[in-house]
Amino acid sequence: MKVTLTVIKADIGAIGGHICPSQRLLEAVDNYVTEHGAKLVVDSYLSYTGDDIAIVATHTRGANDQAVHRLCWDAFIAGTEVAKSQGLYGAGQDLLKDSFSGNVRGMGPAVAELEFEERPNEPFLFFAADKTDPGAYNFPLYMAFADPMNTPGLMLSPSMAQGFRFVIMDVSDTEGDRVIELQAPEDLYSIATLLRDPERYVVESVWSRSTDEQAAAVSTSRLHNIAGKYTGKDDPVMLVRVQKDFPATGEVLAPYAIGPFVAGAMRGSHQMPLMPVPLNSGISYFDGPPVVSCAAFAMHKGKMTEPVDAFAHPFWDTVRDNVSKKAIDMRRQGFFGAAMLPMSELEYTGIVEKLETLDRRFAVRATSRPSDALRRAGS
Ligand code: 13P
Ligand code: 13P
Ligand code: MG
Ligand code: MG
Repeated sequence: MKVTLTVIKADIGAIGGHICPSQRLLEAVDNYVTEHGAKLVVDSYLSYTGDDIAIVATHTRGANDQAVHRLCWDAFIAGTEVAKSQGLYGAGQDLLKDSFSGNVRGMGPAVAELEFEERPNEPFLFFAADKTDPGAYNFPLYMAFADPMNTPGLMLSPSMAQGFRFVIMDVSDTEGDRVIELQAPEDLYSIATLLRDPERYVVESVWSRSTDEQAAAVSTSRLHNIAGKYTGKDDPVMLVRVQKDFPATGEVLAPYAIGPFVAGAMRGSHQMPLMPVPLNSGISYFDGPPVVSCAAFAMHKGKMTEPVDAFAHPFWDTVRDNVSKKAIDMRRQGFFGAAMLPMSELEYTGIVEKLETLDRRFAVRATSRPSDALRRAGS
């Protein structure tokens, strides 16, 4: 059976600033999908990560399906009404357009979709991250799909040993989806050269070279240009199929133990370590740290099992402690250097405006340094 996995997420309002959605908001979105999606989707699952709500839907209608996208859009509209009625902060934040037009790509919500012939057993992982951007997945995807130090399957499994194809987008291009396809392991250094810069070059998908099946889909988009202006960090979702011709679940999860520094946290303008958290976790310290959750599923004929919370296991408590330490260490240096993002990535205009004002006050000295002038006069 050919199945499509669609995940669409949006921030449509939160309690206490950007912490997490309200129960009533979640119920409104869930009820809408259940009531209106019965004939459209085989199964669905709703969760939140920080202030973002994600709808995971399984169906047989293919990627970019107008009806499925509209269902999620309308569910978020219904949720936004509740958010407004409760006075939630940022009600409808990610719904950037007034009316739905075909599919939600480019309209604000994040989208990741996989279409495949279902295997007799079909394990997959659904990741959602808040207070960061799609480039946050560059590092864990490189480790899981290209690095035998992390993924022994690349040596042990003959099918995985044929490598994986990375589709990487240059998100700075304003005209269209500018992508490149690179093959691991032959193009490893080229892949590394691009993924080094996660604000510009972002993994969009990963494909098995032995079967040509898609392994991973990330909600990568030309994030700077949705709605014609910079719209923030675009908290990303991701789907990853696991086992057999794909990395094992443990190989996909392992890189998150490192807690890499990613863009995001406070005002979307800092570098902070990524913390793996249980499903339905909110946000706290410094509007962060950036968080990532993972729900593991098995699926049969499009019907999902209950989610298993991949980062709830006690192992991740130590990781969370380490990430907290890294976060506090980084915050000690406030706005200096690496703690804050470069100018092009700042989500607010304040610094740019201030620099423009200051720039007018800079002057090039008419003479050389005073000390030089004195020295010349004295000698
Ligand atoms: P399978 O034997 O089910 O492929 O599992 C192997 C594995 O995932 C070990 O990490
Ligand atoms: P979100 O993008 O998750 O809404 O966070 C906004 C922010 O800037 C928090 O400081
Ligand atoms: Mg928000
Ligand atoms: Mg968010």
